Amino acid sequence: MTEASVVPERIDTPQEARAAISARGAAVAQGLHTEEDALAFAAEVLGDKRIRLGRQFEASMRNHQREAAVVDAQPVDERGRKRSFGKPGERMTAHNDGFAFGDYAPDHLFLWCKRPAESGGDSFLVDAWKLTELLAADPATADLAEFCRTVDIDHSEPNFAQSTYAPIVRVVPSGRVQARYHPYLAPVPGSTRPADADMLARWNDTVLHVRDTGPMFRAEAGEMICVDNYRLLHGRDGYTDPARELYSIWGWTTDAVAVPVQQLDIVEPDLAGLTG
Ligand SMILES: [Fe+2]
Repeated sequence: MTEASVVPERIDTPQEARAAISARGAAVAQGLHTEEDALAFAAEVLGDKRIRLGRQFEASMRNHQREAAVVDAQPVDERGRKRSFGKPGERMTAHNDGFAFGDYAPDHLFLWCKRPAESGGDSFLVDAWKLTELLAADPATADLAEFCRTVDIDHSEPNFAQSTYAPIVRVVPSGRVQARYHPYLAPVPGSTRPADADMLARWNDTVLHVRDTGPMFRAEAGEMICVDNYRLLHGRDGYTDPARELYSIWGWTTDAVAVPVQQLDIVEPDLAGLTG
């Protein structure tokens, strides 16, 4: 299953980045030493298909502590799910960015490294679409791939309901593939299919296994990891260096299922008003 892990190649131009993202889901750009440079490069990667692009958040110890405290104070939902941003010292759960926003999640993600941690904080990428292809090819796991492709589930975060349900893997109207994972995936509320919860637990274990057995890589200062956020999951290893600074930039193109009219708030991911 570790064939689903992705170590992105280093590229020089936005055109090379676009080709690598299309072929393998990710690429690493170099020599971007200001946020303006990073945003300009990302804009060129999206090209004529760009609809919306902007900084989403600063991943630093300082910012994490502030936002995590708000999330920690949010209640457990009626199904026993509790939101958590985790701790910087722990390996992050694999996820697509913006998962709380369902159809409004960005189809592209750019992780710009202003300053890496002295040690730790390495990145990992998992091609979740390829992972389901690998599951389908093995008779022992083909049922899990079938579940991922055909059964609607609830992609919401605790207390922030989404208006639609969808399978884990789908081909969206633009033709792009989307394959999703985050730690709160749940059966559709009121589901009378107990097997769904078991399948979700297996998907969870499979993603965790790939995360923990696949390779990781390091982004240096001035590097930007460019990601197909529909197809790949990402995350980073634990770190303790308070000087680490990484910025996440979200991009929506004409390929996206839906595009919000305002910046999204991951601390309070309320979907009301996103359509303007
Ligand atoms: Fe993320």
